[in-house]
Amino acid sequence: MEKEKETRPEGRQIVMSGIRPTGYLHLGNYFGALRNYVRMQEQYDCYFMVADWHSLTTHPDTKELKNSVLRVLAENIAAGIDPSKACLYVQSRIPEIAELYLILNMLAYKGELEKTSTFKEKVRLQPENVNAGLLTYPVLQAADILIHRARYVPVGKDQQQHLEMARNFAQRFNHRYGDLFQEPEAFNFGEELVKVPSLDGAGKMSKSENQFATLYLADDDDLIRKKVMKAKTDTGPTVKNSAKPPEIENIFQLMSLVSTEDTVKKFDEDYGNCTIRYGDLKKQLAEDMVKFISPIREKAENIYHDTAFLAQVVEQGTEKARKSAKATIELVRQRMEFNYF
Ligand code: TYM
Repeated sequence: MEKEKETRPEGRQIVMSGIRPTGYLHLGNYFGALRNYVRMQEQYDCYFMVADWHSLTTHPDTKELKNSVLRVLAENIAAGIDPSKACLYVQSRIPEIAELYLILNMLAYKGELEKTSTFKEKVRLQPENVNAGLLTYPVLQAADILIHRARYVPVGKDQQQHLEMARNFAQRFNHRYGDLFQEPEAFNFGEELVKVPSLDGAGKMSKSENQFATLYLADDDDLIRKKVMKAKTDTGPTVKNSAKPPEIENIFQLMSLVSTEDTVKKFDEDYGNCTIRYGDLKKQLAEDMVKFISPIREKAENIYHDTAFLAQVVEQGTEKARKSAKATIELVRQRMEFNYF
């Protein structure tokens, strides 16, 4: 039993993560999630999913869903996911997730679900549509992860609480029905989880809010330049080696993601001795962003239009994901003694 909990037959640790198809992917999705996916696919048994069921909690209209799903798949591959190494699939093709979600719902309490920050935030944003799916969102996410008995979950900082909840649900299942799940952990290569700030200095980059303060992987070069040049700054430091105000700290943080160490160091020194020119800082950031984003955008555009290729990727992904999901559901049913005959 212990051995089964630790590893799967392949002997490699399992990794699982997902992205909702609710809009174009942005720099936050890249540095919070995709960058880790790409590195992890070399060492782990990876399952990466498009969370289309999850998107219904906030985007009930399904007219655009197909395009969004294809777009997210294309952007995953353009960012470096190799579908022959990592299993890339779509949530709604794996019915076993829904069965596990149903079971985990009986182990989740209304009080804890209501206290979740993402739930409270969504209630504030869409008071007219506080559906039960929104409340049980973290339970579905736990089912996504536990269906593969995953150990590591590469995500950004905003998902930390959901991961804690997934661990609680796993523990409750193990305690009540017998050891089955390992406790999944949020993962970022050797570091703190990432939160990529928005360009307006307020909050984080996001798929569907503050679009002018978010850099999307699909933005064209001019739009990237425009957005970066509009980033908020102040009048500049007047006292040597003073602390940076939040909006300037944000620009430096974004720079540290895409620019060379020497570039960041130079502007940092200029800031320290009060000679910095924010126009130059932003121009440099804009050019480094263009250099970073444009190859991904071009690749994604080509892949997005190759529907036959994407269909084949999903076919192959579904087959592997279902095999893993069926094996887990079989064990869940055994532990719960559902096999009556
Ligand atoms: P979603 O679609 O909002 O975001 C996808 C991934 O991008 C990360 N992310 C960020 N990281 C850093 N800075 C930001 N500004 C930023 N914005 C987004 C998110 O942390 C996430 O890793 N609930 C999930 C989807 C999901 C999932 C799962 C994740 C469904 N099932 C199972 C992991 C495992 C979500 O809404 O991600």
